[in-house]
Formats: sequence, C-alpha cells, structure tokens
Amino acid sequence: MAEIGKDIDYAKDVLSDGGIVGVPTETVYGLAGSALDTGAILKIYKAKNRPQFDPLIAHTNRIDKIETWVHDFPLKAMQLAEKFWPGPLTLLLNKTDAIPDLLTSGLARVAFRIPNHPLTLELLSRLDFPLAAPSANPFGFVSPTQASHVEDQLGDKVDYILNGGKCRIGIESTVVGFEEDEVIVHRLGGLSVEEIEEVVGPVQLKLNKSSNPEAPGMMKSHYSPGIPVIIGSIRDEVEKLKDRKAGVISFSEFYHDAQVMKVLSPTRDLHQAAKNLFRVLREMKDEEVDVIVTEKFPNEGLGKAINDRLERSAAS
Ligand code: TXA
Ligand code: MG
Repeated sequence: MAEIGKDIDYAKDVLSDGGIVGVPTETVYGLAGSALDTGAILKIYKAKNRPQFDPLIAHTNRIDKIETWVHDFPLKAMQLAEKFWPGPLTLLLNKTDAIPDLLTSGLARVAFRIPNHPLTLELLSRLDFPLAAPSANPFGFVSPTQASHVEDQLGDKVDYILNGGKCRIGIESTVVGFEEDEVIVHRLGGLSVEEIEEVVGPVQLKLNKSSNPEAPGMMKSHYSPGIPVIIGSIRDEVEKLKDRKAGVISFSEFYHDAQVMKVLSPTRDLHQAAKNLFRVLREMKDEEVDVIVTEKFPNEGLGKAINDRLERSAAS
C-alpha cells in the first residue's frame, strides 16, 4: 500500500523522478505525474486502466506559466481564469509542442486548471512543470474525495498519496472550450453554468454523452458505483423493490421504508449535496445494497452537474 502523508518535499522528489502521486484538490483527488514526461503520463494511463484516447487535464499554479505552454489565451478564457482560478474550472487552450501529444490524445488543445487546495498549490509552486492529474480512480468508477478512497482503489499503483483531507467541492471541474467567439461547456462540474454566464454571457452546452472527438473521455457510462442505479420517484421505486435491499440517496427527505438511507443535504443546499455525493455512492457498496435508488435534483446551479453524474452512474 502507498504511504499517505503531508510531505510536499517528498511528493516533489517523486514527481521530479517520473513517479506518480495522489494529490488533493478542492474538486476530487487527482493521480498526478509530470505533464511533460511521457513516461509519467503512461504510468497514469496504466494505473487508471484508462484508454489513451481519453486526454488528461494539466494543473499548475499560475496563469503566466500556462501562457508558456499554450499558443494563445482567448479574452473570454482570460476573464474566466481571472475570476475563477484557483477553482473548479478547466480551460481548453491550443497547446504548444512542449505539451506531449500523449497528454491530449493527439488533440490540438490541452486542458488546464489551477486547483484551489493549499497543499497542491504549494507543491505546484515548487515545480517547473505542470502536473497531469485525472481523477484518481480506476477508469469508469466514482471519483475519490478523500485520501483513503485513493488508497482503496489505487494504493498499490501510486508512489505516494498527499493527504489534504476531504474535498470541499466533491465534484469534478467544469470543462470549458472556446470556438470563434463562443464559450462552450463540455463537462458540467463544480463551477455552475450560471456563474460562468455572469462573466461571459450565454454559453453553449456540448456535453459529451458518448465517444466524441472533442472530448473523447466523457463517455455516457461512467461513475459506476458497481451497483445498479435507478433515478425516479424514490417512494414509488422503493415500494416496487420491496424484496430487494435498496439503498436510497435523496436530496433532503428521509424515507422510512428504505433499508439504507443517505440524505445529501437536509437543508437542500446543492453545494453540500455535491460535496457528499461520491462518498455516499461509495458507501452503498459497503452497505451491500442490491440497488441504489435516487431522484432527479433541481436542474439549476450544481444540481445540473449532480444530475449529469447520477445519469452516468445509472447508465454504467
Ligand atoms: O476536477 C477535475 O477536473 C479533476 C481534478 C483532479 O482536477 N480532474 C479530472 O480529470 O476530473 P479527468 O481526467 O477525470 O477528467 C478530465 C476530463 C475528461 O472528461 C477528458 O476527456 C477531458 O477532461 N479533457 C481532458 N483534456 C481534454 C482535451 N484536450 N480536449 C477535450 N477534453 C479534454
Ligand atoms: Mg475522471
């Protein structure tokens, strides 16, 4: 099993030697390696069992560093970066040759993000290369929101896990690209569409439901908790499933008939619900339920990203 700790110097040494490290961010934990080192990138794909046609996000701590690795930074991209970084926003920018094609699966754009976590920001400030860091889960499964989740699933494959506690946001970053003057949201995430629109005006949604050359990784079936997921009216579904062990994940209400009951936010706070979602999906496995029953969340703010993840879980 990998060592878990808070030793930034050690993490830096491992990464500088081409190793891979589990790192905390405010969204989910990432599986990090040098984004300029094809050997480290290959280790990440292999550890995650991720197909190489699914590109990785690069992380760093300063916009001026990113400017040395991309050809241009569109005005609207800069407005979003200045407003929301460090934070749960990933920007697709035209890459220079310094960025290996393996990182972007041969695509012309590279995904960049400045994450908002003190340990990882400190680590990034000590590195002169960006860190490739997809979510630190095996391909197709639920993303990790605490160090123990990384250890459970990838503990024998990583060189070290930097422990930054529980992720504050709990759902992955929002992925945004730019075409002509249009702003395109490719993945719903921890920064809401409404917040983005306040800065750059109306955006287009091009969510990738299936294999797609724009963002080949965002397959419809993903976020598998390893148990069937049903989305609907919780009361009706629990009634129908009487002879099976159903685990309910509700937004705010408690259902007495459910055998296992997890409420994501009694006060109906979508941020709190997002923060708890992936942990609760994992806990259902420990509860050994036969089926997970959940509901559609309000289609606003982070509710859109929560619904996206639940639909993908149900399709997996
Ligand atoms: O919050 C996050 O974004 C987390 C933390 C660790 O930063 N990372 C994360 O990475 O969720 P990952 O690899 O699980 O998801 C990255 C998504 C994938 O859906 C991938 O297809 C897309 O971003 N992506 C990465 N590079 C891309 C590119 N060059 N063009 C289009 N989509 C890209
Ligand atoms: Mg992922």
